[in-house]
Amino acid sequence: MQTPFPPVTPPRRILMGPGPSDISPRVLAAMAAPTVGHLDPYFLRIMNETQEMLRQVFRTRNPLTMSVSGTGSAGMEACVANLIEPGDRMIACINGVFGGRMADVAERCGAEVTRLERPFGEVFTAEEVEEAVRKVSPKVLGIVHAETSTGALQPLEDISRVVHDAGGLLLVDCVTSLGGLPVEIDAWGVDAAYSGTQKCLSCPPGLAPVTFGPKAVEVIDNRKSKVQSWYLDMTMVRNYWSDQSRAYHHTAPINMNYGLHEALRIILEEGLEPRFERHQRNHQALKSGLAAMGIEYAVAEGHQLPTLNAVRIPDGVDDKAVRGRLLEEFGIEIGGGLGPMAGKVWRIGLMGEASSKRNVMLFLAALEECLATAGVSVTAGAGVSAASEAYRSA
Ligand SMILES: Cc1ncc(COP(=O)(O)O)c(C=O)c1O
Repeated sequence: MQTPFPPVTPPRRILMGPGPSDISPRVLAAMAAPTVGHLDPYFLRIMNETQEMLRQVFRTRNPLTMSVSGTGSAGMEACVANLIEPGDRMIACINGVFGGRMADVAERCGAEVTRLERPFGEVFTAEEVEEAVRKVSPKVLGIVHAETSTGALQPLEDISRVVHDAGGLLLVDCVTSLGGLPVEIDAWGVDAAYSGTQKCLSCPPGLAPVTFGPKAVEVIDNRKSKVQSWYLDMTMVRNYWSDQSRAYHHTAPINMNYGLHEALRIILEEGLEPRFERHQRNHQALKSGLAAMGIEYAVAEGHQLPTLNAVRIPDGVDDKAVRGRLLEEFGIEIGGGLGPMAGKVWRIGLMGEASSKRNVMLFLAALEECLATAGVSVTAGAGVSAASEAYRSA
């Protein structure tokens, strides 16, 4: 029988938004491999290897490192739900949408949440965090390393020290940093962290890498109440991921895990340092190109993310019209602003596979065309030639 529903034939896009990012054909091919059972010896090998590769990418020796079945938000929820019991105090650092989400998740887990706030686009100083942890003495302080909603990069080392001095645990969101810029779980003393597959790991959305350090594991082991989420309860999920006590918990998304395995192989083949340098180089070239076109960053110099470039939309330019043209005429997706930045900024992602010279040059040329027809005066070729110069002098 004929069905009126056509097969899935998505358009080819260049994903330069806030995520998902471009995916390597190698990852897509791995995901199309035959599905095996979730306790098949082959899959158990894939799980073990994925854990080991994740440890390398997170730069940690934490045994409890794995992928949670679900997107980045599931990773956030897994970390918060396992560390927090009703009545526990938690500080959520909010300088963008995702810090706010963490506070919401913590409240749903029964935490007494203190919201430490900064305007969108700014970052926290260790001094203000120190003052807050002294006052509140939280069990957990949650903070976002790379705020995708604003393009701000949060320094963590000093904050880690002040949180630990006050006896708290440091929980970090590295959704838009892992695999694109240094994330040093052990060296920075991060107690728990989560990420998502669809940003700098360049794998489709669907899994959330997480890691828990020794102090976080101790907290989980000594809980008085059950974790309020059955699905994300690490006391059970970790048995499935452990070679010693392998037991069914839920059916792992097998083919998603194949994809993550291949994505991690690609990252380790490239090498973490060369990969971070590539992200920096493309970010600097994009920045030079945009500056030559009169476009400014929304985040102060020194705190700009190489993976997510939030820039101010020139006065009088129609945000949606430009993004619409970029998508329709050039196949390029970029993001609009979120929350108070809606309509004011564009978010240009240079994550993983998508962080390339090809994408930078193509985007600058396409943007010039869109701006010129929107009546903005830009010198022809200025963006591309400034970026080109930046690559030559890099
Ligand atoms: C910093 C940050 N945290 C958490 C999330 C939530 O991840 P997901 O949308 O994959 O659930 C995102 C998604 O964009 C993010 O950028």
